[in-house]
Amino acid sequence: MTVFKSHYAGQYDQFYSEKDYSGECDLIEEAVQRYAAHVPTSVLDIGCGTGGHAIELAGRGYRVTGVDLSQAMLDVATFKCAGLSLAGGGPQWLCGDARDFESGHEHDLGVMMFAVIGYLAENADVLKSLRNIRRQLKRGALFICDFWYGPTVLTMGPSDRIRVFEGGGRKTIRSASTKLDVFRHTADVTIRLWTLAGDRLVGESTEVHRLRYFFPQEFSMLLSMAGFRSIGISAFPSIDAQPDTHTWNALSIAVAD
Ligand SMILES: C[S@@+](CC[C@H](N)C(=O)[O-])C[C@H]1O[C@@H](n2cnc3c(N)ncnc32)[C@H](O)[C@@H]1O
Repeated sequence: MTVFKSHYAGQYDQFYSEKDYSGECDLIEEAVQRYAAHVPTSVLDIGCGTGGHAIELAGRGYRVTGVDLSQAMLDVATFKCAGLSLAGGGPQWLCGDARDFESGHEHDLGVMMFAVIGYLAENADVLKSLRNIRRQLKRGALFICDFWYGPTVLTMGPSDRIRVFEGGGRKTIRSASTKLDVFRHTADVTIRLWTLAGDRLVGESTEVHRLRYFFPQEFSMLLSMAGFRSIGISAFPSIDAQPDTHTWNALSIAVAD
């Protein structure tokens, strides 16, 4: 994998320390309460990363399988679980590609959070992933994901950013600059990291993250082509608010038909 390599993965949790994983799991459970036919016990988290949702959901008693293409991200997730007393020993981690992983059984709920679906940039790859996920969910299971909302990406445009993160006696400077391809519906986000210990450079990396943004009608159609029925697309993190041209992330809730 060319992104989420060890330098980036090792700092991922620091970059997103303000992300409210517990609140997002409340949102997932709220969607389940409203729309799921059955109470789920097993959850498939595709693109689980460092386990922000998977570990929280395991702590709430679900049997979780976390799948990710980046072993470096899974290594962080595994490390975080050591010493936690989680039901069933915590999530089961699987290094695999959304397009063809095999979890070994059908699950009651699928989640794919924080724009993971955007990493599948081509239609064929999006469909291959959605179909592979559908195959490993029980009929009636919910599939919850979020994605960059195309109308906003085109209206507001992404902005370039520089941030400095400090911790553990180190300082990391992160710069992100984005180039849009409005024909392919993709954004190439170039992320550069420099890590300093005092005035010594101890780590440097560059990753280009290609992210697809989606439009609501195309996303519903992709879901239906893969065997899901869209229940709704809303302004993340709300289940009810209609997305508008200020909505960067859209929340999609669908059911496995
Ligand atoms: C922005 S991170 C989100 C991680 C996690 N869901 C979270 O909310 O923190 C995107 C994750 O998707 C994973 N990913 C990207 N493409 C993938 C693919 N084709 N199959 C599985 N995982 C993938 C990356 O390795 C990365 O861990």
